[in-house]
Amino acid sequence: MPGRVEGKVAFITGAARGQGRSHALRLAQEGADIIAVDICGPVDGVMYPMPGPGDLAETAKEVEALDRRIVATQADVRDFEALKAAVDDGVAQLGRLDIVVANAGIGALGASLAKMDSKTWQDTIDINLTGVWLSAKAGIPHLIAGGRGGSIVLTSSVGGVKGMEGAGHYVAAKHGVIGLMRTLALEMAHHKVRVNTIMPTQVNTPMAVNEGTFRLFRPDLENPDDFAVASAMTNPLQVPWMEPVDISNAVLFLASDESRYITGLMLPVDAGSLLK
Ligand SMILES: NC(=O)c1ccc[n+]([C@@H]2O[C@H](COP(=O)([O-])OP(=O)(O)OC[C@H]3O[C@@H](n4cnc5c(N)ncnc54)[C@H](O)[C@@H]3O)[C@@H](O)[C@H]2O)c1
Repeated sequence: MPGRVEGKVAFITGAARGQGRSHALRLAQEGADIIAVDICGPVDGVMYPMPGPGDLAETAKEVEALDRRIVATQADVRDFEALKAAVDDGVAQLGRLDIVVANAGIGALGASLAKMDSKTWQDTIDINLTGVWLSAKAGIPHLIAGGRGGSIVLTSSVGGVKGMEGAGHYVAAKHGVIGLMRTLALEMAHHKVRVNTIMPTQVNTPMAVNEGTFRLFRPDLENPDDFAVASAMTNPLQVPWMEPVDISNAVLFLASDESRYITGLMLPVDAGSLLK
């Protein structure tokens, strides 16, 4: 039986680990080849460990183990020329582009908006909002040239529709991703390119599940197990965090032709957290 995205090529940012790696593997399992990029290095203001080149190489190894091809490049989503070169090279090697998953992002240490410094604000806007636009922009000429339509999936967050104290930079960027999606969906519709947004609650990746987050959100708690209990209380389905594959399954649906008439959607994958 053919896979759900058999023969398609997907460009995925932030693919060295976490949700990005999971998206690459899930789409590869269903028959897609992958163009992957990741910064693979430290980012100012990010207090949890970032991945290195070895992590992106591991993603490549795992995709190849599924008998799919991958072109993986170290690139920063803030650098349009580097992104464009990575996508152009990937398309030259793999022959086409059908899917863009703009997933790369950071959870940089914040402060109240009254006290946040401009660099902290700007770094997050540059990666989590402008970087999402630049990633889509790098892929769009290939989607149009293919003449087969396509799917762009932008990673927002439940923070894309609600406030979060101490994370105004992140929340503003994730709200911005929704506006970006709505406009891109209109602008790309006549090319039969669909544009949608996924909005996860906490996911079990180094961004969310790390000592710094435990301390930031619950400085009153003694240990991470207590944080898991507190985290579960934000989600009516009572899980502290979801696994990356839970998001990847939603990405797969939006990337595949099963959702061929779905565009402009904000899809919460949030264990019910937005109900509260
Ligand atoms: N983990 C969560 O709880 C959660 C919840 C909602 C939304 N999100 C969003 O999901 C996306 C994926 O995050 P994750 O949970 O997998 O975290 P993660 O830290 O495991 O992965 C993020 C990846 O993006 C890469 N990246 C960061 N800045 C980059 C840049 N400038 N250029 C290229 N690559 C860069 C990182 O190196 C990393 O591999 C992010 O957009 C994040 O904001 C995460």
